[in-house]
Amino acid sequence: MKVVRTVADVALVVSRTKISGKKVAFVPTMGSIHQGHLSLVEIAKKQADLVVASIFVNPLQFTSSADFELYPRSEDADAKALAKAGVDLLFLPTVDEIYPDGNFEITQTAGQIGKVYEGEARPGHFDGMLTVVSRLFDIVQPDYAVFGAKDAQQLFLIRQMVKGQNPLGVRDPIEIIEGPTIRDSKGLALSSRNNRLSKSQLGLALTLSEALAEASLAAKRGGGAPGAYFSASSVFTLAPEAKLDYLALVNPASFEPIEEGFTGQALMIVAATVGDVRLIDNGLITF
Ligand code: PAF
Repeated sequence: MKVVRTVADVALVVSRTKISGKKVAFVPTMGSIHQGHLSLVEIAKKQADLVVASIFVNPLQFTSSADFELYPRSEDADAKALAKAGVDLLFLPTVDEIYPDGNFEITQTAGQIGKVYEGEARPGHFDGMLTVVSRLFDIVQPDYAVFGAKDAQQLFLIRQMVKGQNPLGVRDPIEIIEGPTIRDSKGLALSSRNNRLSKSQLGLALTLSEALAEASLAAKRGGGAPGAYFSASSVFTLAPEAKLDYLALVNPASFEPIEEGFTGQALMIVAATVGDVRLIDNGLITF
């Protein structure tokens, strides 16, 4: 695996690859690499000849500078894990390489869907996230980019951004690929944040996936959206230490709340805080 830190070095490797007609797949990360990220690399390897990963803790997507400072950084271990997983090129930019001359201008706005759910809890987060993803796309020029399904709202907004940037086919199309949520043996969705949970908090964190499972069962029993919603929220009532932030059923095509009588696959999205760790999860439910 080649490790580079500058835009120019990425451009050199990518342009050589593309000139020879080969495809490039990209897995952007903020580090703290776990099995979930490695599964995205696995998908990228199947798609393309050159797999590029990046590790960049993006200051623009943090709502407080303390959060940004405290974000875990483990560059050496991350690089080893990504190399072992088969990444060809690892981009480890400095802040100045991504935002030259201290220009932290927001270049992408997430719109209305960026202001609800995760966006309401973390104002400005999605504008900052889209700004860095757009900048990374401009640098890496991938044919494919792979993102995890666990961050459903992020994935929705990235797809929307890419579609919006290519209305006339002017920009090279980037195919956004969704990697399934990877869970531990008990069902907890893998996340870098899980490292901050104690043993008992890890038990409480299961409330999220259990609520999704109960909702799915209720839907199968024919309870419709109200039944699914009630079953999921009952799981939280029984575990009040997992503090529910939101629980909603949205249409995956629009991220808008589903309407009465909805049929098909809805996405149940959930966020809760355990201790001081904010966790999210989601699952498709068929009505
Ligand atoms: O999901 C993440 O790790 C980040 O939001 C991303 C997409 C790498 C942008 O910083």
